[in-house]
Amino acid sequence: MPSKNDLHLAARLVFDGTVAEDAVRECLAEIQHSEESGRPLRLEEALAKRRLVAPERLTAARLEVMLDSGHFANLIDGYELVEKVGAGHTSRVYMARKLPGNDLVAVKVLHPKLSLSPDVRRAFREEAELLMRLKHDNIVRGYALGRSHGLEYFAMEYVDGDTLLEYIQKKVVFNEDAALYVILQIGRALEYLNREGVVHRDIKPGNILLTRENTVKLCDLGFAATSGGAEGESDTTVGTVAYISPEQARGRTDIDIRSDIYSLGVTLYHMVIGELPFQGSDDSEVLAKQILESLSSEELKGRGISDHLHYFIQKMMAKNREIRYADPAALISDISEHIRGKKTLTYNPLAASEAEGDENLLEKPFHEEGGDKPAAAPPPSPSRSWWKPGAPKDDAARRRETEIRERLKGLKRKRE
Ligand SMILES: Nc1ncnc2c1ncn2[C@@H]1O[C@H](COP(=O)(O)OP(=O)(O)O)[C@@H](O)[C@H]1O
Ligand SMILES: [Mg+2]
Repeated sequence: MPSKNDLHLAARLVFDGTVAEDAVRECLAEIQHSEESGRPLRLEEALAKRRLVAPERLTAARLEVMLDSGHFANLIDGYELVEKVGAGHTSRVYMARKLPGNDLVAVKVLHPKLSLSPDVRRAFREEAELLMRLKHDNIVRGYALGRSHGLEYFAMEYVDGDTLLEYIQKKVVFNEDAALYVILQIGRALEYLNREGVVHRDIKPGNILLTRENTVKLCDLGFAATSGGAEGESDTTVGTVAYISPEQARGRTDIDIRSDIYSLGVTLYHMVIGELPFQGSDDSEVLAKQILESLSSEELKGRGISDHLHYFIQKMMAKNREIRYADPAALISDISEHIRGKKTLTYNPLAASEAEGDENLLEKPFHEEGGDKPAAAPPPSPSRSWWKPGAPKDDAARRRETEIRERLKGLKRKRE
């Protein structure tokens, strides 16, 4: 019988279309036969004999199998990978222990198949270097970058929490205070990125982490473009179509921070409405809607959201970037003032409904009233969401960390 590892490898090669199923079956039959004749053959050898797959491709597939199975602990020198905590289109992310010692980190490992491409490897390293250079409380910190056993990886701050996408998938509909709390923190991350000349280009719930201490952190700078940098210029249609800005969808090359503001607007919409503004049966249909279809003011009103939120969403998601928030600082200022209650903003629906067609109207869809009012009472407590923004720091996070450390010790004991 071929080993379990060989079977996994065989399945992966067929699954990702590297080798035809018939050919793999033939190899497995040969392995079976070789065992019976007392000279067992490995799958790699059987495949190599037939020249069915390039050796580096085979090594990559073997590594993929190890990363997905429980055999990843020692694949990265200097770290012990403990548990897979996430995966995206380009990579897997593991909670890990930095050796020696017990420091928890996250290790992002580039998919081995992708790492065969020098361009992807370069982009991955640039992402790591960028994270290591940036220092902001709302952006995951990068620590170190390396290559080990043929795997490209970098270590970063481990964030104990879930992505915003996971909350949305669990059907958590965020109440407005909670949603604005998240948007404000990512807005701060964007303001910082803007100052640093960086456009993220892939703002979406899957790249936003909510920690157990109620901090919100942006991750995944894999598509980020830096001013003066060369990356991505030929392909600006990166990002996830459901959140992509119209100018990104059109493939414009002069993408700036307003594109991230649009994507953050879609994220806000998704959080409070519970579904995406533009849906379609495939990516190209969604892309077309991102470019052509305006948000319906009427429909938004029917969703039971407040006038303020309506305004924020429309101004962030304006198709024309000239009438979007010009930069994250303006967004932060509006949301903070709203939260502090210093300004009573009265919504002017006429302005908002016509705003898409008129570049001037979105400027003041609210009438300001009582600008010198003392700070109002704190916002009402979340009603529809169980994720409470700004909940007093308690021992939960610390307890959870101790729990993880205990688990680490347990895992270590098991192996010893
Ligand atoms: N620093 C981190 N701490 C904990 N989990 C993380 C961290 N960074 C990423 N993740 C998890 O891993 C997933 C994939 O990471 P991401 O950087 O978005 O990779 P990709 O570029 O492949 O999309 C994220 O959606 C998240 O669930
Ligand atoms: Mg991602």
